[in-house]
Amino acid sequence: MDFFEVIKKRRSVRSFEKVEIKKEDILKILEAGRLAPSGRNAQVWEFIVIDDENLIKELGKIQSFISESSVIIGVIMDPEKSNFWVEDASAAIENMLLTITYLGYASCWVEGTLLKKEKWAKELLGIPEEKRLIALLPIGKAKSEVGMPYKKPLSSIVYHNKYGNPYL
Ligand SMILES: Cc1cc2nc3c(=O)[nH]c(=O)nc-3n(C[C@H](O)[C@H](O)[C@H](O)COP(=O)(O)O)c2cc1C
Repeated sequence: MDFFEVIKKRRSVRSFEKVEIKKEDILKILEAGRLAPSGRNAQVWEFIVIDDENLIKELGKIQSFISESSVIIGVIMDPEKSNFWVEDASAAIENMLLTITYLGYASCWVEGTLLKKEKWAKELLGIPEEKRLIALLPIGKAKSEVGMPYKKPLSSIVYHNKYGNPYL
């Protein structure tokens, strides 16, 4: 797959079949997160790999499709250590989502629903109170292909030299 194909192919998938995910692949995904840019190169991220079946089932209480995944990567950030922790987390998450796609698996950036149950999830996973569990990336094989949702055309979001001047 060429690079732009990976970008276009990445979708938020919310229905998985269980699949064996090799440790080698999990390491590639984590490596993509580790190598992401971060403000002042602070790298205030940590990742938790969840492959325990009971934990995966429990985490389905956040959003039910999560329980169908084979492995979950949780993104943990330390907000005390960088003002840019949200942006840094986002960069690492997107790098990992693209790698997951490239390797032929599917995932979804789960943050909105996680934040409502973050305290509970942190306790379940033994994450220290002062850290944030900002996202879960459940990984599996897509049950069926998911089409691209509506994306705004470039002509409606890109300007030329001055705001409002069309570029396209
Ligand atoms: C910050 C952020 C939070 C998100 N939280 C959730 C979530 O909690 N649950 C979910 O199913 N999808 C979540 N998504 C996925 C979006 O709904 C999805 O990216 C969007 O609908 C566009 O679809 P696409 O990813 O296939 O392009 C989140 C995405 C982002 C960037």
